[in-house]
Amino acid sequence: RSAHWQQDGPLGMGVFGTYDRAQLQRGFQVYKEVCSACHGLRLVAFRNLSEIGFSEAEVKALAKAKDVPSINSQTGEETTRPALPSDHFPSPFPNETAARAANNNALPPDLSLIVKARPNGKNYIHSLLTGYDETAPKGFDVPQGLHFNPYFHSVNIAMAKPLNEDQVTYADGTKATVDQMAMDVVAFLQWAAEPELEKRRQIGVASLIFLGILTLLAFLTYRRVWAGIA
Ligand code: HEM
Repeated sequence: RSAHWQQDGPLGMGVFGTYDRAQLQRGFQVYKEVCSACHGLRLVAFRNLSEIGFSEAEVKALAKAKDVPSINSQTGEETTRPALPSDHFPSPFPNETAARAANNNALPPDLSLIVKARPNGKNYIHSLLTGYDETAPKGFDVPQGLHFNPYFHSVNIAMAKPLNEDQVTYADGTKATVDQMAMDVVAFLQWAAEPELEKRRQIGVASLIFLGILTLLAFLTYRRVWAGIA
């Protein structure tokens, strides 16, 4: 693991930090090509992707490539239609029963808020995704259909190892190691859970500057008011 990861976490953001747009786009690619087969992202709309640097035309094309459930207004029949930029990422399964049937009775959670839902979410998910290569201790039986992963709460997880070396091909030439893809997808999921983080930090800094000026003015006023009073 890089020193960068050790010091700052996958985002490398400090107090004034901003999201790394290139990393978010790589992370989105990992979500789209790998995770979205099983995990939804229901709180994110396609048009939100413009915030991480996709153009309007790209957003339209990305939306169009996915089908979302729809009801025919004439017949009331349930169908699907290509998504629009205002649609949210659909769940890959029509309902929980179908999701469990496809996943050894386990339910793949929606990933919109997963970074916040798990303690130390960013590091946990990175560890989970890179933790499959650790071998189970001798004599430890992994139940059929489950996979050993020491970072999962019950140690045996129904999700098979989702990331393997060079699983995706990054347009910017970044080498797609498991560690790299895990860092990128975690950064993307952090953005999905907290898209307003940069704005919040900007407001925080602006508030501190404002309070600093206010303190100075209050101090000068105090000096003025008390001037000449023994
Ligand atoms: C669970 C992330 C790909 C199936 C999870 C959890 C996370 C996660 C964070 C929750 C673990 C917890 O509850 O603490 C990801 C990411 C993926 C990915 C980031 C892409 C890189 C996949 C794929 C499948 C899948 C492709 C299906 C083939 C599942 C299932 C669970 C799960 C069934 C529930 C596991 C259990 O409760 O035992 N995943 N996942 N995941 N995932 Fe994935």
